[in-house]
Amino acid sequence: MLGPMSLFLDSSEPKEVEELFGWGVLSGVTTNPLIIAREAPDADIGERIRSVLRVSHGDVCVELTTETEAEMLKEAAVYAAWDPARICIKVPMSEAGIRVVHALAKKGVKTNATCLMAMNQAYLAALAGATYVSIFAGRVRDMGYDVRPVIASTREVLDREGLPAKIIVGSVRHMMDVNEALEAGAHIPTVPPPILRKMVWNPRTEATIQEFNTAWRNRGKKG
Ligand code: E4P
Repeated sequence: MLGPMSLFLDSSEPKEVEELFGWGVLSGVTTNPLIIAREAPDADIGERIRSVLRVSHGDVCVELTTETEAEMLKEAAVYAAWDPARICIKVPMSEAGIRVVHALAKKGVKTNATCLMAMNQAYLAALAGATYVSIFAGRVRDMGYDVRPVIASTREVLDREGLPAKIIVGSVRHMMDVNEALEAGAHIPTVPPPILRKMVWNPRTEATIQEFNTAWRNRGKKG
């Protein structure tokens, strides 16, 4: 169940998913064909996603790899059948993609409109009935643009128009991407495991813990 703000994990690695869901901070998973191809080139996608479903909770987003409306709907039906309550179909933005988002929304299938770089795309996807709209922070920055105004204007339009779509910010490459996404109005950053681990760590925290524990171990000893 999504709270007012949530955090998703951007991974298809069942071991990582299981371990990091144990922290109690995650409420969903995002994957994409590149992530799966990199993490497990020989994997059977159905087995891998079912493993992820078993060790997580909340929505698990699986991306379509086909490009025509008919193919996308066929592919979406296969993925949705793995767990109709939790599978969310990631639909890449295109004219066919918008039609697919709309068709799936009418059938009650959750969708995540993905590969979005601009507010106008997110607005269209939200109007078509997307559950989530995914803005790609790192890839917007790769083009030389600041992603914060894209996130902020999308949030403003969704709120003003009463559109229920939630903004996911993906393509997270640095910890600051998470902070900036939340400050700009994203509902859900989706973070790769290494970034989530970095978010815990701070050198001053480490030094403080070591100072306290050393003092405890040495208590009562004459120096
Ligand atoms: C998440 O939904 C996206 O698919 C993912 O974060 C994209 O990341 P990348 O731009 O680093 O490939």
